[in-house]
Amino acid sequence: MNQTINDLKSRRSIRKFKDKQISDEDLKTILETGTYAPTARGMQSPKIVVIQNPETIKELSKWNRSYFPVDVPEDMDPFYGAKTILIVLADSKMPTFVEDGASVLAVLVNAAHAIGVGSCWIHRARDEFSSEKGKALLKKWGIPESYEGIGHVALGYPDMESPKPLPRKEDYIHYVD
Ligand SMILES: Cc1cc2nc3c(=O)[nH]c(=O)nc-3n(C[C@H](O)[C@H](O)[C@H](O)COP(=O)(O)O)c2cc1C
Repeated sequence: MNQTINDLKSRRSIRKFKDKQISDEDLKTILETGTYAPTARGMQSPKIVVIQNPETIKELSKWNRSYFPVDVPEDMDPFYGAKTILIVLADSKMPTFVEDGASVLAVLVNAAHAIGVGSCWIHRARDEFSSEKGKALLKKWGIPESYEGIGHVALGYPDMESPKPLPRKEDYIHYVD
Protein backbone atom coordinates (compact mmCIF):
# COMPACT_ATOMS: atom_id res chain seq x y z
CA MET A 1 0.00 0.00 0.00
CA ASN A 2 1.13 3.57 -0.63
CA GLN A 3 2.96 4.80 2.51
CA THR A 4 0.85 7.96 2.95
CA ILE A 5 -2.40 6.01 2.61
CA ASN A 6 -1.11 3.43 5.06
CA ASP A 7 -0.19 6.16 7.57
CA LEU A 8 -3.55 7.88 7.25
CA LYS A 9 -5.37 4.60 7.84
CA SER A 10 -3.17 3.30 10.66
CA ARG A 11 -3.12 6.43 12.86
CA ARG A 12 -5.01 5.88 16.10
CA SER A 13 -5.48 8.07 19.14
CA ILE A 14 -2.75 7.37 21.69
CA ARG A 15 -3.64 7.83 25.34
CA LYS A 16 -0.50 6.62 27.13
CA PHE A 17 2.85 8.24 26.50
CA LYS A 18 6.44 7.45 27.44
CA ASP A 19 7.92 9.62 30.19
CA LYS A 20 10.16 11.31 27.65
CA GLN A 21 9.89 14.60 25.81
CA ILE A 22 9.67 14.36 22.01
CA SER A 23 12.74 15.54 20.14
CA ASP A 24 12.92 19.10 18.85
CA GLU A 25 13.39 17.68 15.37
CA ASP A 26 10.17 15.64 15.58
CA LEU A 27 8.28 18.62 16.99
CA LYS A 28 9.55 20.88 14.24
CA THR A 29 8.55 18.38 11.54
CA ILE A 30 5.03 18.04 12.96
CA LEU A 31 4.55 21.79 13.32
CA GLU A 32 5.90 22.63 9.90
CA THR A 33 3.71 19.99 8.29
CA GLY A 34 0.69 21.41 10.13
CA THR A 35 1.29 24.77 8.52
CA TYR A 36 0.74 23.16 5.10
CA ALA A 37 -2.86 22.17 5.95
CA PRO A 38 -5.47 23.42 3.53
CA THR A 39 -7.19 26.61 4.72
CA ALA A 40 -9.94 28.62 3.05
CA ARG A 41 -8.55 30.96 0.40
CA GLY A 42 -5.11 29.88 1.58
CA MET A 43 -5.37 32.46 4.35
CA GLN A 44 -3.50 30.32 6.93
CA SER A 45 -5.62 31.94 9.62
CA PRO A 46 -5.02 29.37 12.41
CA LYS A 47 -2.23 29.57 14.96
CA ILE A 48 -0.52 26.67 16.68
CA VAL A 49 0.52 27.33 20.27
CA VAL A 50 3.22 24.99 21.62
CA ILE A 51 3.38 24.22 25.34
CA GLN A 52 6.16 22.16 26.92
CA ASN A 53 6.50 23.81 30.33
CA PRO A 54 5.31 21.11 32.81
CA GLU A 55 3.73 23.69 35.13
CA THR A 56 1.80 25.29 32.27
CA ILE A 57 0.62 21.87 31.07
CA LYS A 58 -0.51 21.00 34.61
CA GLU A 59 -2.52 24.20 34.78
CA LEU A 60 -3.98 23.63 31.30
CA SER A 61 -4.91 20.07 32.25
CA LYS A 62 -6.84 21.25 35.32
CA TRP A 63 -8.53 23.97 33.27
CA ASN A 64 -9.49 21.56 30.48
CA ARG A 65 -10.84 19.03 33.02
CA SER A 66 -13.09 21.73 34.48
CA TYR A 67 -15.07 21.75 31.20
CA PHE A 68 -15.84 18.01 31.24
CA PRO A 69 -19.61 17.56 31.01
CA VAL A 70 -19.48 14.98 33.81
CA ASP A 71 -17.62 14.85 37.12
CA VAL A 72 -14.20 13.26 36.73
CA PRO A 73 -11.61 12.46 39.42
CA GLU A 74 -9.28 15.36 40.32
CA ASP A 75 -6.26 13.39 39.18
CA MET A 76 -7.70 12.62 35.72
CA ASP A 77 -5.40 14.22 33.17
CA PRO A 78 -7.28 14.97 29.92
CA PHE A 79 -3.89 15.12 28.17
CA TYR A 80 -2.86 11.63 29.34
CA GLY A 81 0.50 12.76 30.68
CA ALA A 82 1.71 14.13 27.34
CA LYS A 83 4.74 16.40 27.69
CA THR A 84 3.96 18.45 24.62
CA ILE A 85 0.59 20.07 24.04
CA LEU A 86 -0.37 21.96 20.92
CA ILE A 87 -3.35 24.28 20.93
CA VAL A 88 -4.86 25.19 17.59
CA LEU A 89 -6.59 28.56 17.57
CA ALA A 90 -8.35 30.12 14.62
CA ASP A 91 -9.51 33.62 13.82
CA SER A 92 -13.27 33.98 14.26
CA LYS A 93 -13.15 36.90 11.83
CA MET A 94 -12.86 34.23 9.12
CA PRO A 95 -16.20 32.61 8.23
CA THR A 96 -14.37 29.29 7.92
CA PHE A 97 -12.35 29.46 11.13
CA VAL A 98 -13.64 26.19 12.58
CA GLU A 99 -12.97 24.28 9.37
CA ASP A 100 -9.52 25.90 9.02
CA GLY A 101 -8.57 24.95 12.57
CA ALA A 102 -9.89 21.40 12.22
CA SER A 103 -7.93 21.04 8.98
CA VAL A 104 -4.71 21.95 10.81
CA LEU A 105 -5.51 19.57 13.67
CA ALA A 106 -6.07 16.68 11.24
CA VAL A 107 -2.75 17.32 9.52
CA LEU A 108 -0.89 17.60 12.84
CA VAL A 109 -2.11 14.23 14.18
CA ASN A 110 -1.34 12.49 10.91
CA ALA A 111 2.09 14.10 10.56
CA ALA A 112 2.91 12.96 14.08
CA HIS A 113 1.91 9.39 13.33
CA ALA A 114 3.91 9.36 10.10
CA ILE A 115 7.13 9.94 12.08
CA GLY A 116 6.33 7.63 15.00
CA VAL A 117 4.96 10.21 17.44
CA GLY A 118 1.69 9.33 19.17
CA SER A 119 -1.07 11.88 19.45
CA CYS A 120 -4.57 12.48 20.64
CA TRP A 121 -6.92 15.27 19.55
CA ILE A 122 -8.32 16.82 22.74
CA HIS A 123 -11.50 18.86 22.87
CA ARG A 124 -12.78 21.82 24.94
CA ALA A 125 -10.43 24.47 23.52
CA ARG A 126 -13.49 26.52 22.54
CA ASP A 127 -14.65 26.60 26.17
CA GLU A 128 -11.19 27.59 27.32
CA PHE A 129 -10.55 30.43 24.93
CA SER A 130 -14.01 31.98 24.98
CA SER A 131 -13.67 32.50 28.74
CA GLU A 132 -12.21 35.57 30.45
CA LYS A 133 -9.18 33.54 31.44
CA GLY A 134 -8.69 32.42 27.85
CA LYS A 135 -8.94 35.97 26.52
CA ALA A 136 -6.37 37.10 29.11
CA LEU A 137 -4.03 34.30 27.99
CA LEU A 138 -4.40 35.33 24.36
CA LYS A 139 -3.41 38.86 25.36
CA LYS A 140 -0.40 37.53 27.27
CA TRP A 141 0.65 35.49 24.24
CA GLY A 142 0.21 38.43 21.86
CA ILE A 143 -2.65 36.78 19.96
CA PRO A 144 -5.70 38.87 18.91
CA GLU A 145 -8.86 38.47 20.96
CA SER A 146 -10.78 37.31 17.89
CA TYR A 147 -9.01 33.93 18.06
CA GLU A 148 -11.06 30.97 19.29
CA GLY A 149 -9.85 27.61 20.54
CA ILE A 150 -10.47 24.79 18.07
CA GLY A 151 -8.64 21.86 19.67
CA HIS A 152 -5.52 20.54 21.32
CA VAL A 153 -3.09 17.84 20.29
CA ALA A 154 -1.37 15.82 23.01
CA LEU A 155 1.96 14.55 21.69
CA GLY A 156 4.41 11.93 22.91
CA TYR A 157 6.06 8.65 22.10
CA PRO A 158 3.47 5.88 22.44
CA ASP A 159 3.59 3.67 25.53
CA MET A 160 0.76 1.42 24.39
CA GLU A 161 -0.16 -0.79 21.48
CA SER A 162 -1.98 1.14 18.79
CA PRO A 163 -5.72 0.41 19.33
CA LYS A 164 -7.62 -1.47 16.66
CA PRO A 165 -9.92 0.83 14.68
CA LEU A 166 -13.66 0.31 14.93
CA PRO A 167 -15.15 -1.15 11.75
CA ARG A 168 -16.04 1.65 9.36
CA LYS A 169 -19.82 2.16 9.24
CA GLU A 170 -21.62 0.59 6.32
CA ASP A 171 -23.29 3.78 5.09
CA TYR A 172 -20.27 6.09 5.36
CA ILE A 173 -20.00 6.57 1.60
CA HIS A 174 -22.91 7.39 -0.69
CA TYR A 175 -22.55 7.25 -4.42
CA VAL A 176 -25.21 9.34 -6.10
CA ASP A 177 -26.17 10.05 -9.68
C1 LIG B 1 -13.34 16.97 17.51
C2 LIG B 1 -12.66 15.86 18.26
C3 LIG B 1 -12.59 15.94 19.63
C4 LIG B 1 -11.94 14.92 20.36
N1 LIG B 1 -11.81 15.06 21.71
C5 LIG B 1 -11.18 14.11 22.41
C6 LIG B 1 -10.94 14.27 23.81
O1 LIG B 1 -11.27 15.30 24.39
N2 LIG B 1 -10.32 13.28 24.47
C7 LIG B 1 -9.91 12.13 23.85
O2 LIG B 1 -9.35 11.25 24.52
N3 LIG B 1 -10.08 11.95 22.52
C8 LIG B 1 -10.70 12.91 21.80
N4 LIG B 1 -10.84 12.78 20.43
C9 LIG B 1 -10.32 11.57 19.77
C10 LIG B 1 -11.46 10.64 19.35
O3 LIG B 1 -12.05 10.08 20.51
C11 LIG B 1 -10.88 9.56 18.43
O4 LIG B 1 -10.36 10.17 17.27
C12 LIG B 1 -11.97 8.55 18.03
O5 LIG B 1 -12.37 7.81 19.15
C13 LIG B 1 -11.47 7.59 16.95
O6 LIG B 1 -10.31 6.92 17.38
P1 LIG B 1 -8.94 7.00 16.56
O7 LIG B 1 -8.47 8.42 16.60
O8 LIG B 1 -8.02 6.07 17.29
O9 LIG B 1 -9.22 6.55 15.17
C14 LIG B 1 -11.42 13.78 19.69
C15 LIG B 1 -11.49 13.73 18.29
C16 LIG B 1 -12.10 14.76 17.58
C17 LIG B 1 -12.11 14.71 16.07
